[in-house]
Amino acid sequence: MPEKVNIGAHELWHGDCREVLPMLADASADMVFTSPPYNLGNTTGGGFPGKKLGHYNQQAGMKARGGLGKWGGGGLADGYEDYDDAMPMDDYIAWQKDTLRQCWRILTDKGAIYYNHKPRVLDGVALLPLAYNPDLPLRQIVIWARAGGVNFSPVAYLPTHEWVMILARPDFRLRDKSASGAGDVWYVPQEANTEHPAPFPLALPMRAIESTSCATVLDPFMGSATTGAACVALGRRFIGIERSARFFDMACKRIENAMAQGTLLAPTPAGEQQALEL
Ligand SMILES: C[S@@+](CC[C@H](N)C(=O)[O-])C[C@H]1O[C@@H](n2cnc3c(N)ncnc32)[C@H](O)[C@@H]1O
Repeated sequence: MPEKVNIGAHELWHGDCREVLPMLADASADMVFTSPPYNLGNTTGGGFPGKKLGHYNQQAGMKARGGLGKWGGGGLADGYEDYDDAMPMDDYIAWQKDTLRQCWRILTDKGAIYYNHKPRVLDGVALLPLAYNPDLPLRQIVIWARAGGVNFSPVAYLPTHEWVMILARPDFRLRDKSASGAGDVWYVPQEANTEHPAPFPLALPMRAIESTSCATVLDPFMGSATTGAACVALGRRFIGIERSARFFDMACKRIENAMAQGTLLAPTPAGEQQALEL
């Protein structure tokens, strides 16, 4: 049974987002900023020396196939805390589409989903994050340009970027015209030696949130609550969901620490968005 913890104005849920999202009311968030597990267990391999090549099978998970592929030596070799990140690809795609449909229902009519995922090469063919979109209106693709990558392979050039797909309600707008100047390629280095194995850098949700006047931001795959820390810093309300107990505790502590440090007022025009009384 999911459990909810309120920290100031913020709502942190410990549970599976498949159970928690249906419990959230329609139009109760005006931004979703999230990055799901990427199903990296289901990989073509070939990245690190000594790993198996060509063992990928779209319908079998990594553990069922007995291979760890190119992630065998990495921090996500066994997936996350209590989740192996190795679904049959059709199931994974259906799950991501369901999650995005739920997020869309929860979004206000001026809201947008910022969905971070990355292009991958599977069986020699590019799988783009567009595959996870259940026909929601795609407003824009922001490129997150990372500082280098690790997946060297003769199959394709080294991937050094990810996408942030913006799925937007027709009335979604940036804060103002000047916010558009953030551009559609965001150069943000990934953070090293993090406690969570796959966080995005704080600057990513910060840039998205501060460029809109959103009041409440949802992250159904909260992890260590990077989106939440950005919300606290910018005076927005946060709703997060995380299934792993360890990451959930990490997230609660991070929100508490961020609150202790105080709120930076977002550079929004007067009267649009006030910092929350926390
Ligand atoms: C890519 S990580 C997100 C990291 C986060 N953006 C951060 O900066 O820390 C994905 C997270 O989703 C969690 N997760 C996986 N399946 C989930 C589910 N069904 N419901 C909720 N959380 C889930 C994993 O435990 C992991 O922490």
